Amino acid sequence: MTEPPHVTETRTAYDTVAVDYARLLEGELARSPLDRALLGHFAELVALGGGGPVVDAGCGPGRITGHLATLGLDATGIDLSPGMVAEAQRRHPDIDFRTGSLAALDLADGSVAGVVAWYSIIHTPAALLPEVFAELHRVIRPNGLLLLAFQAGGFSVRHEQAYGHEVTFDAHRHDPDHVAGLLTVAGFRVTVRTERAPQDYEKTPQAFLLARRD
Ligand SMILES: C[S@@+](CC[C@H](N)C(=O)[O-])C[C@H]1O[C@@H](n2cnc3c(N)ncnc32)[C@H](O)[C@@H]1O
Repeated sequence: MTEPPHVTETRTAYDTVAVDYARLLEGELARSPLDRALLGHFAELVALGGGGPVVDAGCGPGRITGHLATLGLDATGIDLSPGMVAEAQRRHPDIDFRTGSLAALDLADGSVAGVVAWYSIIHTPAALLPEVFAELHRVIRPNGLLLLAFQAGGFSVRHEQAYGHEVTFDAHRHDPDHVAGLLTVAGFRVTVRTERAPQDYEKTPQAFLLARRD
């Protein structure tokens, strides 16, 4: 099957910026107590549910995967970009990272206790989110968890530069109401929904949705 052009473009862009993205976002989580609180909440709920493997889908250089591991989770990372996977593996040699796509994960049905997709659905056009959520629903076990983070908005931005490189890609600022509705249709129950104002270099509010698979 031919790969959609936006997927090829996203991979190329992140392969190009991987090393500088990792360097520039280093320490970002330390400056974001709400982000850490939400990831901590996710980790505690996974533990309360008996534990099990969790996947950081669209893991980039593994900064969230590493944090989940420090919270005691059995975390692995998957990303579209081989450059990002190499950077993640270099930074976190004890964690398993591999290439893969949010829309077609190389994971068995119901095999994970939870998925974190931290700013990775931002490169999927809104019209294609249902197929991503169907795939996440397939791999998460019943009552398992899905945590999403994304820039809120309801519009898309074309980038021609990022992280010090000339790269072209689209970033979709999804509408949280729309995303929550799509999660419900896909078979998830949204249990936490929050937004915070932009901080530091951010330009838009940041949205976070935690959902349980039915
Ligand atoms: C903004 S970065 C976020 C990386 C990481 N989650 C973090 O917070 O640092 C977006 C990442 O999602 C990955 N990505 C985008 N679309 C994807 C898809 N369809 N499947 C898997 N990974 C994807 C990109 O390659 C990139 O590494």
